[in-house]
Amino acid sequence: MMLARNFASPARQCLRTARVAPRYQIRGYAAAAEEQVATFKGKKGSDGKYTVTLIEGDGIGPEISQSVKDIFSAANVPIKWEPVDVTPILKDGRTTIPEDAIKSVERNFVALKGPLATPVGKGHVSLNLTLRRTFNLFANVRPCRSIAGYKTPYDNVDTVLIRENTEGEYSGIEHVVVPGVVQSIKLITKDASERVLRYAFQYARSINKKKVRVVHKATIMKMSDGLFLNLARDIAKDFPDVEFDAELLDNACLNITTDPTPYNDKVLVMPNLYGDILSDMCAGLIGGLGLTPSGNIGRECSIFEAVHGSAPDIAGKGLANPTALLLSSIMMLQHMGLHQEATRIRTAILDTLAEGKTLTGDLGGKAKTHEYADAIIKRL
Ligand SMILES: NC(=O)c1ccc[n+]([C@@H]2O[C@H](COP(=O)([O-])OP(=O)(O)OC[C@H]3O[C@@H](n4cnc5c(N)ncnc54)[C@H](O)[C@@H]3O)[C@@H](O)[C@H]2O)c1
Repeated sequence: MMLARNFASPARQCLRTARVAPRYQIRGYAAAAEEQVATFKGKKGSDGKYTVTLIEGDGIGPEISQSVKDIFSAANVPIKWEPVDVTPILKDGRTTIPEDAIKSVERNFVALKGPLATPVGKGHVSLNLTLRRTFNLFANVRPCRSIAGYKTPYDNVDTVLIRENTEGEYSGIEHVVVPGVVQSIKLITKDASERVLRYAFQYARSINKKKVRVVHKATIMKMSDGLFLNLARDIAKDFPDVEFDAELLDNACLNITTDPTPYNDKVLVMPNLYGDILSDMCAGLIGGLGLTPSGNIGRECSIFEAVHGSAPDIAGKGLANPTALLLSSIMMLQHMGLHQEATRIRTAILDTLAEGKTLTGDLGGKAKTHEYADAIIKRL
């Protein structure tokens, strides 16, 4: 009981402080209005190539990474891979990744990552979470576009969702107030919110979407979501060429699943938990996580990854579908400014899928992973 009280009092204090929080002066944030939030800082080496850190991952990771390597090599993409091992180590009781891997990502500013299995029952936290925290990857970008040749209830989905990746409901601040009563704190800060919001506007511009929409529940969470929404309104003034509006989370779920097409001209941006749920919902509209790419964007470094797991049930059998990792690698090329290469490979992937002759088992085909990759290479 004593212990519970000790926990309870700072929390109450924290809530009291929050109640008197002033209205936010967004100019306090370090970025000027026009500063690009997460520009790729890598430079080509003397061989004319960028170096990219490659985390092949566990389970099917090495097989799907091989497909990316083969296709990039056939397309003469000017990058070379720097493979690193991120097998977690416990340092001072905390999960961390090896120093060599951290240095590689910091040096190259960009990484491509296969799925990582989280060890069960060994005291490790999720490696994905560790990576996010290590590199302060503040935004998770999840585009979901219908794939011709893969029939789903909707034919013309083209959503882009940006999720705040570092705080909100996933801040990990939880405690017992008294036995039987627990409290979990949703932390929303001006700095983290402004960073992801500004990135959303800049990203919308970069992909020629004309609208940014904040998804929120500020009607209920007046202070936390209210801060996010008010900041968005202020930041929108710096982007007069991008239309801004807002929608309640529940309305957004209802409307997207009723008809996703009105969302095709928008970038949706939202706090952590809403983004986690809504991004998987959108993935469902185009056929699931196996076809969905993602980018974790940081101010310094960015890591691109497929959102599916390591699929231990099919690992090593040549059955894995590398499309999600391939589409993530296309997002990476766009982030690096290699647009021509990105378009060329993307077109080859989509044409191969649309033709439907060389598909992996999860899409109803019989092709092995390498046969599917070869079919893409033939179309380059
Ligand atoms: N981003 C990540 O690194 C990430 C994400 C989710 C899960 N995981 C980890 O992956 C491991 C397995 O998780 P899970 O089984 O819950 O989810 P999973 O995504 O690995 O597998 C779910 C199902 O989808 C299939 N599948 C997944 N990717 C596929 C692909 N590319 N091609 C064909 N089929 C595919 C699998 O065979 C399986 O039947 C766990 O250790 C989990 O922690 C990692």
